[in-house]
Amino acid sequence: MGHPSQRCWKGCSRQTVDDMHDRYEKIPVQVYPEAGEAARRVAAAIAGLIRSRQEEGRDAVLGLATGSTPIPVYRELIRLHHEKGLSFCNVTTFNLDEYSGLDTNHPESYTRFMREQLFDHVDIGEGRTNIPNASGDSAEELENKCAAYEQKIRDAGGIDIQLLGIGRSGHIGFNEPGSPVTSRTRVVTLDRITRLDASADFQGFHNVPRTAVTMGVGTILEADKVFLLAWGKGKADVVRIAAEEPESEVVSASFLQRHSNAEFVLDKAAAGDLTRLRYPWLVDSISWTRRMKRRAISWASGKTEKPILKLVDDDYNESGLGDLIVEGENSYSLNIATFNDFQHTITGWPGGKPDANEETRPEKSTPHPKHAVIFSAEPQDALVGMGATINRLKEQGHHVTLVALTSGNLRVRDQEALKLIRCLKTLGQSEQVSHQLGDHVERLQVSHAEAALNPEVRKLKSAILRAEVVDSASALGVDEEALQFLNLPFYESGRFRQFHVTDADHEAVAKLLEMLNPNLVFVSGSVADPMSPQGIAFQLVAAAIRKFPITADHIWCYRHREEALKPYEIDMSVPISPLQHELKGNALQRLRAVVDLRNEESLNDDRSVAAAYDELGLAEYEAMEVFQRVKVEKL
Ligand code: F6R
Repeated sequence: MGHPSQRCWKGCSRQTVDDMHDRYEKIPVQVYPEAGEAARRVAAAIAGLIRSRQEEGRDAVLGLATGSTPIPVYRELIRLHHEKGLSFCNVTTFNLDEYSGLDTNHPESYTRFMREQLFDHVDIGEGRTNIPNASGDSAEELENKCAAYEQKIRDAGGIDIQLLGIGRSGHIGFNEPGSPVTSRTRVVTLDRITRLDASADFQGFHNVPRTAVTMGVGTILEADKVFLLAWGKGKADVVRIAAEEPESEVVSASFLQRHSNAEFVLDKAAAGDLTRLRYPWLVDSISWTRRMKRRAISWASGKTEKPILKLVDDDYNESGLGDLIVEGENSYSLNIATFNDFQHTITGWPGGKPDANEETRPEKSTPHPKHAVIFSAEPQDALVGMGATINRLKEQGHHVTLVALTSGNLRVRDQEALKLIRCLKTLGQSEQVSHQLGDHVERLQVSHAEAALNPEVRKLKSAILRAEVVDSASALGVDEEALQFLNLPFYESGRFRQFHVTDADHEAVAKLLEMLNPNLVFVSGSVADPMSPQGIAFQLVAAAIRKFPITADHIWCYRHREEALKPYEIDMSVPISPLQHELKGNALQRLRAVVDLRNEESLNDDRSVAAAYDELGLAEYEAMEVFQRVKVEKL
């Protein structure tokens, strides 16, 4: 089996498709419309256990996870503690894992995470919380500590409820690909994908620890009840593999299939690749909508490696789409209708084409020009996701405002801040900055994690990113006056995976929207992890639009990294010529300070979408930027 994240959108061979009927979910899966509702249900189950044990005069033993996924559960437990009198006095906890070599006060240490996200806010007894310890002088010493951790779990009577997230490498805890089903608490080497995913938290890949200590798969499987939680589209692929493919060491979460009381709890986006949601016609008879036909027929095209217009009745039958033909149509008419549907998503006029028949165009032609407001969660997002489209909107006479909702300073490399301080020093103007930064300058030099969270350092980095974004936008034809930097407080007072949105954030976005009053809106992240800046930004913009309705019946979502759209999910694709792509590349190159911004990869993503359209038998373009329509009434 290939690595999950390397699978392509149409990666079903004939054989695997034939197998599909008997390889749907092999574990109970609950899908909720959004993460908050799912988290409340899991928190209620935990609260129920704690209370029933209290009535029996017994302890409750919880296995806990860190990362962004369990945070909504912890927030709900804290609320139950404050508002519903839920006491944690009889609770003992065991955490899954901890990075090697981090001080317990390090901002990314899981010990600090648990204090900040749960323990400091409830009445859990000191000494009742346990987190594996990854420091030790010798291998033998570490081994003893791991064995002692296992013994302590046994002494506590075993884990009653185990909470899990899932990594894109398929890990539970830090049981990376290759972890045996019998593995116990031990020191492990982190997978490259896991380290990449943590690189923004640690200010760069090279700062992410290489090893960690984790409970084993065998340890986890001994818990009485297991909830595996996942939010956002980024997890959809690996969730499907864990739930539907046979158990395998390649995806350690798949071993939960053998647990008699394990359950996946997902939001809709994380569940999006499950067969019942992605290929519902394989599971049940369905009522065919136009969109569903587009999805099914493009899938059949990928599976048979034939362009849409060459599909024949047999291809439909063999792809489980026989009932489409039975419905009175034949492959010829279905092919043409679907081909046209795809064709109509393509437009070089993202703001609408003046005086054109708009029936088949993604965006209305009137009014013209429009006022387009393009929201970025972090300032660089829109440039990466839709830089060429921004340029087009400008060239086609629209009024364009780019709104950076947050400062994005957490993405800026320490070295960039140091470089600026050095420049100021050379110019004899560093005194004030050095005074304000104090010993954080030295901390920056050694990439001390605390330095990146210092408000003065953050201010400096915000200024650096702002300057780069202004420069980059100018390469796309957007002047500085058209840029708004909102610096929302949730970002300034938080850090990755741990943001807390307040009324101040909502008010700032709503006020700006009311002032700008756009009739064309772009935003990223409708299906992003709801705890990420992009997920939060989408929710803030949606709430603002509910408060101050815009004069358009839909908004457009652009692709964010790791959220590539499949062709059938696309409602508007803007073709990019080689020259325009070069222009975008030039603009992205000006974003030098951003940690791990992989320009080439972003440009290649634009090329891959164009290639996918080409494979369906549509026109062949150099690249495409693609968008999904979200109806305002659905926000
Ligand atoms: C954390 C842990 C990991 C995470 C996983 C997902 O204690 O054990 O398995 O659950 O890496 O991380 P997030 O939730 O940040 O996406």
